[in-house]
Amino acid sequence: MARQHSIMDVDQLRAAAELLIRARRVVLSTGAGMSAESGVPTFRDASGMWARFNPEELATPMAFARDPHKVWDWYRARRAALAKCNPHDGHRILANWERRFPEFDVITQNVDGLHHRAGSTRVLELHGRLDVARCVACPRQIAGLEDLGPAPKCPDCDHWLRPGVVWFHESLPAEALEAAELAAAQCDVYVSVGTSSVVYPAAGLLETAYAAGASVIEINPTPTPCSGMAKVRLRNSARAALMELDQLFSRTSDGDA
Ligand code: OAD
Repeated sequence: MARQHSIMDVDQLRAAAELLIRARRVVLSTGAGMSAESGVPTFRDASGMWARFNPEELATPMAFARDPHKVWDWYRARRAALAKCNPHDGHRILANWERRFPEFDVITQNVDGLHHRAGSTRVLELHGRLDVARCVACPRQIAGLEDLGPAPKCPDCDHWLRPGVVWFHESLPAEALEAAELAAAQCDVYVSVGTSSVVYPAAGLLETAYAAGASVIEINPTPTPCSGMAKVRLRNSARAALMELDQLFSRTSDGDA
């Protein structure tokens, strides 16, 4: 996993807090790094999922058509692992920030549902949910992380149930993507947390926000292809950076910093 305990850059932290103080419309865009400190593995770090598994064999519609048992088993294990994970302080801070700004949206590539579990209500989920299984043929969905057994079939029509996540070569949910594009185009501050910013269209939202004049804050221990667009870069873990930012932001909002 990437460095997570580097010393806070106080100037960058203050700059981020000042941007947030003045902001009315804020977008928090989160990727796998946001959930790393909850124990959910990332994808592209040295110990990430895609260092150990081949996405073409597990995360495409073709892979599922070839071998639904293999694909389901992998997601079944991820569902079981997620059942043991909980939101951390950073998730809870974002849930509280909903009440601080006139407009505040969380846009997430994460499929773990941890923002909802922490209390966020305005969450645009671009890549679906791991705790949903849905029929490949009919509208039936089964929500929850309970073990559905090996490669389950739909109780209504007997076709395969598949994980409710978006796979490579699939479209993102249109409604969530449209709302995310609008939020990115209209925000004053766009905070990108824990994403490698290489998967589109999600990564393009930061570019949309930047092109529309938003100030971009990046929270990530390592640089990304989008770092150059960030006015402020916090090279720390999501939890630590959000906790520091929340403290500074609260003090400054109260007028005593
Ligand atoms: P990645 O695994 O590509 O990137 C995770 C990012 O989080 C990296 O840039 C890390 O440096 C950073 N990171 C690691 N630990 C962190 C921490 N504690 N705090 C903050 N940042 C940390 O994950 P995503 O960008 O989310 O798609 O990947 C995008 C998509 O690719 C995923 O949604 C998934 C994957 O294939 C689907 O499942 C459809």
